[in-house]
Amino acid sequence: MTYLDHAATTPLRAEAREAWLKASVEVGNASALHGAGRRARAIVEEARERLAAALGAHPTEVIWTSGGTEADNLAIKGHYWQRRGDDAARTRIVTTAIEHHAGLDPVRWLASHEGATAVELPVDAVGTLDIAALRDELAAHRDDVAVISAMWANNEVGTLQPLADVVALVADAGVPVHSDAVQAVGHVPVDFAASGLTSLALSAHKVGGPVGIGALLLARGARLTPLTHGGGQERSVRSGTLDPAGAIAAAVAVEAAVADLDTEHARLTALRDGLIARLRTEVPMAVVSGPEDGTRALPGIVHLVVPGAPGEALLYVLDSHGIEVSNGSACVAGVVQASHVLEAMGRSHEDASATLRISMGHTTTTDDLDALMAVLPDAVQRALRVRQR
Ligand SMILES: Cc1ncc(COP(=O)(O)O)c(C=O)c1O
Repeated sequence: MTYLDHAATTPLRAEAREAWLKASVEVGNASALHGAGRRARAIVEEARERLAAALGAHPTEVIWTSGGTEADNLAIKGHYWQRRGDDAARTRIVTTAIEHHAGLDPVRWLASHEGATAVELPVDAVGTLDIAALRDELAAHRDDVAVISAMWANNEVGTLQPLADVVALVADAGVPVHSDAVQAVGHVPVDFAASGLTSLALSAHKVGGPVGIGALLLARGARLTPLTHGGGQERSVRSGTLDPAGAIAAAVAVEAAVADLDTEHARLTALRDGLIARLRTEVPMAVVSGPEDGTRALPGIVHLVVPGAPGEALLYVLDSHGIEVSNGSACVAGVVQASHVLEAMGRSHEDASATLRISMGHTTTTDDLDALMAVLPDAVQRALRVRQR
């Protein structure tokens, strides 16, 4: 099998598995006062320190969660309720039209259930947030905004977002800024302190840690309304028994990804550039999405639109040849849904359903891309014929 769906989840790193196995034999609830509890607590705290150090955060800024989805929900709902509780006029939630559903759906839910006004800012043709639209929004509604949420890097097309500009614009508005950095952590430099963000979501399984653990980095002094109430763990914003083995494996995975970042970035960029060059000659009808300038995108993602080819047909034909890729967007009952990201980039509904996302990671080699290119041209022709039937 050729696995090229690393943006969905990437293989567990050996060092993360080892750390998980070692910690998993310990018994003890990290909140208990006896020796076993203290040993469990020591593992969680070591993980907290290592994760924080890898990402330019203070250990007290790490709130363990079950992954990126929970971290985004906690941040967006938690900031909204907190800020609105402080000042009832603050009902606007400003986000981008290209967020992952983990960031977009909480905003839409707050709009339909909790009296929020959702503002989804536009992006340009390569998926970069229109910063002038944010400037206009703030000029008109500065005192009504409860929270701003803008992702660091897009999970479908890989475009990096102008977060420094977002933070600078909001600097004196008293508005928390959250970023979904699930695809950025371990792939591009992420320094929480330098970013000026109020909160940042990350997920271990995107960098070679286990599925089911992640974190919200929450700036010291920032307050959030909790979503779960109970034992008061994690600064009382995320109650629930802590997971020492998951936490240490997550920290080890992030640490390893950050340590390898420069070499991996260069290696994946070369693989991506080589693949794009081959696609242009061998599959000329495929249009590469995202920025031409690779420095403005994640190194591991190549996103294509194959006009006229149903996304699910492309996927199934490739899968039948042992090539595991994704369409990048959601799938309902086996049918690829038109990508809201592509539509926001100005593509037609049809093009937004004719997508393929090839995503590479720490185990990807040129052999994987050779295996893909051995079948892709024919797979595209077959998918186009499905459409014509
Ligand atoms: C940008 C982004 N945000 C959030 C998530 C959700 O993370 P998790 O799977 O840890 O809940 C993903 C996963 O696909 C993602 O790519």
